[in-house]
Amino acid sequence: MPTWLITGANRGLGLEFVTQLSQDAATTIIATSRSLSPETLARLKTLDSKATLHILKCDTSSPSSITALGDQVTALVGDAKIDYVLNNAGVNVASQQTSLTVTADAILENVKTNIIGPALIVQVLEKHLKQGSVVMNMTSGLGSMADARATESTKCTPYSISKAGVNMLTLHQASGLREKGVVVVCVDPGWVKTALGGAGAIMEKADSIGGMLKCLKGLKAEDTGKFFTVVGPLPRQGVHCLLLLSNYPWLGKAAVFNFNRTTQSFDDAYLSLSKQTAMPQNSMETFHPFPRLSLELRIQIWKLATDDRVLRVRKTWRRKQGYWSPTPAPAVTRACWESRQHCNYQKAFIIDSSPRYIWANFDRDVIKMRSGLLSEGKLPECDEVRRLWIELLSEQGWDESQGFCDYGIYKLEDFPKLERFNLLVDNGLGQWTNFIDRTNWGACPRGNVRIVDGNTGEWIDEETSTAYQYYLDVARKYFSQNKMPTASRHPTLTHEEVNQYYDRLHLPQEQRIFDVSLLSPEDAFEHLARLQRYHLAWVPFENLSLHYSRCRQISLHPEDLFKKIVQSPGRGGYCMENNALFAFLLRSLGYRIRSCGARTHDGKAFGGWSHQVILVTIADEVFVTDVGFGTNNIVVPLSLQKEGEVVNAVHQETIRIIRSSLEGNEDQSQKVWVYQHRLNPDKTWRDCFCFTDLEFRPEDFEIMNLTTSQSPRVFFTQRAFCTKMILDESGEKIVGRLTLQTQVKRSVSGQSEVIKEFTTEEGRLAALKEFYNIEFNKSDASSIIGTTAEIKAT
Ligand SMILES: NC(=O)c1ccc[n+]([C@@H]2O[C@H](COP(=O)([O-])OP(=O)(O)OC[C@H]3O[C@@H](n4cnc5c(N)ncnc54)[C@H](OP(=O)(O)O)[C@@H]3O)[C@@H](O)[C@H]2O)c1
Repeated sequence: MPTWLITGANRGLGLEFVTQLSQDAATTIIATSRSLSPETLARLKTLDSKATLHILKCDTSSPSSITALGDQVTALVGDAKIDYVLNNAGVNVASQQTSLTVTADAILENVKTNIIGPALIVQVLEKHLKQGSVVMNMTSGLGSMADARATESTKCTPYSISKAGVNMLTLHQASGLREKGVVVVCVDPGWVKTALGGAGAIMEKADSIGGMLKCLKGLKAEDTGKFFTVVGPLPRQGVHCLLLLSNYPWLGKAAVFNFNRTTQSFDDAYLSLSKQTAMPQNSMETFHPFPRLSLELRIQIWKLATDDRVLRVRKTWRRKQGYWSPTPAPAVTRACWESRQHCNYQKAFIIDSSPRYIWANFDRDVIKMRSGLLSEGKLPECDEVRRLWIELLSEQGWDESQGFCDYGIYKLEDFPKLERFNLLVDNGLGQWTNFIDRTNWGACPRGNVRIVDGNTGEWIDEETSTAYQYYLDVARKYFSQNKMPTASRHPTLTHEEVNQYYDRLHLPQEQRIFDVSLLSPEDAFEHLARLQRYHLAWVPFENLSLHYSRCRQISLHPEDLFKKIVQSPGRGGYCMENNALFAFLLRSLGYRIRSCGARTHDGKAFGGWSHQVILVTIADEVFVTDVGFGTNNIVVPLSLQKEGEVVNAVHQETIRIIRSSLEGNEDQSQKVWVYQHRLNPDKTWRDCFCFTDLEFRPEDFEIMNLTTSQSPRVFFTQRAFCTKMILDESGEKIVGRLTLQTQVKRSVSGQSEVIKEFTTEEGRLAALKEFYNIEFNKSDASSIIGTTAEIKAT
């Protein structure tokens, strides 16, 4: 028949104690409340109590009220034993005050209820405390000296002081009552959702009190003077803590050692309730032993949890967005709040205009960045950096050697602690052999400087540079008669040009991606498909330069293409123009691409090489993409690995890629890829073009372009046309097409209508302006006169 006395029992944790205890009919509960008003006792009174429940009045901040309680208890139980006295009532007055603002009143208010109350309660009930009785003083993590030492910003100063005080009171009471065999402990209930804990707390009352009751009922004489804390269900991140623990096999021993040691001094550490808690034991997500370790030990673990990383530092082109890194943040910073506070990583590379930061450990991390960042002004934390890698490549992939030699090298003066330095170059090591010796590398010892060829991985340092130069001289002599081959460089666009291209495609800002190497394969494909759709919808397939121009030339030079298609409103081009430009874009974004030739089918047979497609490899899957075939264009990149798969195109149309031999070829064992289109399921498949995966070079397309743009036999030179696709409002689907030849026809969702007819050149030019935003100057506009493509007024 245990008897429990609980202060502050009308709400919060006190009420939860009564709620759980009241289910045992053998229990007697003396619940005290500061007020006995019906409103205050409303919940206490409605409890379905099987136990014997007495409700007494006690204001624990008032010595006279406490004395009165002592008398009432004696009147109630005579000199019988009270098994458990729970000093639960507590306040957190003036929680916003800090050590620099705290007032005497605030400290006094907290001390009265949180220290004086429990002290006097024990005094007035002393005669009822007998062998085996337990006194529990409610404490808080905020009262822990060790926690406060380890916290960057302390809080709730007056409350924390009072809870530290109740810890000391507990030790004194333990000492004073030891001879009587009374066990006195203090317990931190965890952070619990009550009026005091606030809504942001992480534990439910039932979990906290369930754990505490198990703990209290299991206490032994040797537990007197201990400090317990309830560990509740942990947030998901707790799982990371456990993973980290597995890196430290020695920890098991250390934890046991620490557990025993701290029984002497609760100031130094927490002991959690281990087996006594109410926490489910079978779920890793809700319980694991990590929080049972002492705070000091946990802090050591957080500090040990470092990786050797190459930390790539970048800066967004819009200055205000600050520094960022594609390198994942260290695991320890993602475990929990405590790990972030105590780990050996700091928030770095912060600039005023941006909330961004990068977790860095300058003792361990190698900082890797492009040379452009050196010229951006002083790098934040540059005086902390010990290991640095600089890549001599601009954001657009251009070689930055010259800039580094002229300017960047002097910026190394900004790194006073530099211990190791690697320079990653893109143009071979030849020109760098002397540079190592004659250059001042700032604080970094010359012996710790390496110049690394980013393409081959070869490197030279102070010791090997002379030998390398000798090797080069010999090789040059040997090959002097032969011209060394140079790798062909494929053009790319600058960041600004990519942005202009995106403007031309009307690509929404939030969908603008500049480096797809950071994307998952699925996202990289998504972006490719999106670009293709927007291209087809905004950049027409047209051959107008062959008819509305004095020179009737098609240039495939990158600059000409960019000027014509991106910088001139409404203009597009034919296959080799649109696809060549699209290839620059894809390459600039980081796609692995290869341009290939294709043969178009004229309804009877495949002709010569006259078309261009782009093969894009994403995670080993090869897709064919095309933005220059016109009416029956591929509307979504098609996977070569999914040969024969039927893909929905516009409305009822379907498309596919098959592998087939070519009719008329002598060697029928040779197969090519064939792109086919079908108007609807009742129609037969129609061959559109075929291609192989052999890469075509710019020179190949130059040759093809000449015939395609000049031969009087090809339809490009005979008729003027302009076609573009129509996107739905969401930009997710191509729903139709808008074509112009001798009229303007719109076909959406299978319904075709002529929306403009014209019988003169003026009419066609007006339609080009109205529907495609294309305009020609007078000279070009009139140059069609007299050709077969002219619309002659009837
Ligand atoms: N919740 C947490 O996260 C958390 C964490 C650490 C420690 N604690 C400790 O746990 C204990 C209970 O807190 P709680 O979360 O249940 O807070 P709560 O919901 O605010 O309840 C506090 C209880 O204490 C009573 N009380 C306050 N001053 C009193 C006084 N002078 N005389 C008599 N009763 C008084 C209140 O009664 P009235 O209704 O009359 O005000 C109420 O019943 C406190 O000691 C607190 O410091 C709580």
